[in-house]
Amino acid sequence: MDMTEKNPNATLSVSILSGKGGVGKTNLALNLGFALFRAGHRLLLMDFDVGLANVDVLLGLSPEKNLQDLFRPGATAEDVVYPIEEGGFDFLPSASGVPELLEMDEDMREALFSKLNTVFSRYDYLFLDHGAGIGPNVLSAASLSRMPVVVVTPEPTSLTDGYAVIKVLSSKHHVRHFHVLVNQVANAKEGQRTFDRLAAACERFLGLSLSFLGGVRTDAAVPEAVRRQVPLLKFAPTCAAAQDIIAVAVKIHRHRQKLGATLRKTAILKNILERAS
Ligand SMILES: Nc1ncnc2c1ncn2[C@@H]1O[C@H](COP(=O)(O)OP(=O)(O)OP(=O)(O)O)[C@@H](O)[C@H]1O
Ligand SMILES: [Mg+2]
Repeated sequence: MDMTEKNPNATLSVSILSGKGGVGKTNLALNLGFALFRAGHRLLLMDFDVGLANVDVLLGLSPEKNLQDLFRPGATAEDVVYPIEEGGFDFLPSASGVPELLEMDEDMREALFSKLNTVFSRYDYLFLDHGAGIGPNVLSAASLSRMPVVVVTPEPTSLTDGYAVIKVLSSKHHVRHFHVLVNQVANAKEGQRTFDRLAAACERFLGLSLSFLGGVRTDAAVPEAVRRQVPLLKFAPTCAAAQDIIAVAVKIHRHRQKLGATLRKTAILKNILERAS
């Protein structure tokens, strides 16, 4: 099952992951989403940190319904989607401290995602904000999404934990292509150096080559935007971190275009082969 099997050409599902907690996943997911929305794309941001959901806190929203409601008979995915911005930037909230969500098994996750599939396919992008680490919910959703993004910081512990996520997803879930975003860097050079270290380890020990999405600078405007419960790109659209996030969003968009082109080529080839046979 692909998360967006109904419309695989259109929706790019992007999982925002990390080994270590607190590296900036939720802020990045929200603001990358905002950047792509501002560029004219339809985007659904799904809070899949079912242990400690907090996208709603970053937005200052208290949604009435969330993922948990989807397990009630008759509940539809439309009931749990809320607009962040009018015109195609939507939000699907999770719940904090709900054991049924934390302890979902494979069948429940499959049922949940097939319920959500029609909603997913309406968007250009589906962003999943995950909890830190390698719990079963994270691994399962990340392996279903088409673009896994591992967020690290230059701290050695964040790098080793990021490596662990990549190792588990590649060895147990057959994910082969990872994108890396380095958050909280002093400058572009530190971002590149950090990526190079992680990429060298993954190449050497796992035989994987990683793609670099870029670095995002440490910026006092990020915690300030969190305090004000406004997306950084709205609060300080020209600050250093916002500029870096926009550059990463452009790379994600290019990746989507590339995937679309590959899918189109495969479809054309399949057509030609079918006609020839
Ligand atoms: N580029 C940055 N510059 C300054 N502060 C940042 C930056 N990125 C994130 N932060 C700060 O780091 C903290 C953690 O961010 P965030 O909640 O997005 O991390 P997370 O990876 O989602 O955490 P968790 O693993 O708990 O879900 C926040 O207080 C945020 O303000
Ligand atoms: Mg988070």
